Amino acid sequence: MAKNMRELVTKGYDEGKYDKVYARKNTKLEAFEKYMCDELISRTKKGSKILDLGCGVGLPHDGYFVKNKFSLTGVDISKKHIEQAKKNVKAKYFVGDFFSVKGKFDAIVSFYAIFHIPRKEHKQLLKHIHSMLKKEGHILITLGVEDMKCDVSKDFVGAPMAWSSYTVEKNKKLITDAGFEILIAAEDYRTEKHLWILARKKWLI
Ligand SMILES: C[S@@+](CC[C@H](N)C(=O)[O-])C[C@H]1O[C@@H](n2cnc3c(N)ncnc32)[C@H](O)[C@@H]1O
Repeated sequence: MAKNMRELVTKGYDEGKYDKVYARKNTKLEAFEKYMCDELISRTKKGSKILDLGCGVGLPHDGYFVKNKFSLTGVDISKKHIEQAKKNVKAKYFVGDFFSVKGKFDAIVSFYAIFHIPRKEHKQLLKHIHSMLKKEGHILITLGVEDMKCDVSKDFVGAPMAWSSYTVEKNKKLITDAGFEILIAAEDYRTEKHLWILARKKWLI
């Protein structure tokens, strides 16, 4: 299933119309997103390195971080999205899976993306993220809120798509168990349902 889900998601973003229907054209964040990104920015030294997992076309989030003088690296499994991100934002972009990234970063972000890998891999991904964070680094990520092993849509803006998630409580436990101290956990029900987490890498685990 893990391989199939990745293939389905990659094809969905490469062949569907997400970039035309959903992806935004500038760095303007909605008020809630801006609040959360600013909470991360206020804890992260200007000029330091931020990694965006599942960066999409780079807008609005990466553009916002670059505008705020951070050095941004973005990775996305969709070749189409990375081609657009390279045109949209002055950052380092490459095509790859979340797990393909190596290096150390001051902060790691991921918006509306982690729920596209099977939930049984979320624990391992959080540990991988933890290993790539420098001491005192922060994460700002979104996860799902529902107990959903795998939900498939035959037509998500023009192509099949799949999602997988745990409940809010289970997600918080996974994050804490991976070695993070949760600073903000916010359930976001603006249009879809997302759990936003701002957390700090613990000094000792
Ligand atoms: C809903 S879009 C969100 C894009 C962007 N973060 C944003 O906020 O606009 C989800 C993104 O995650 C990417 N993605 C999904 N699974 C991935 C994986 N295993 N590794 C890397 N990127 C992945 C997709 O290609 C897509 O660009």
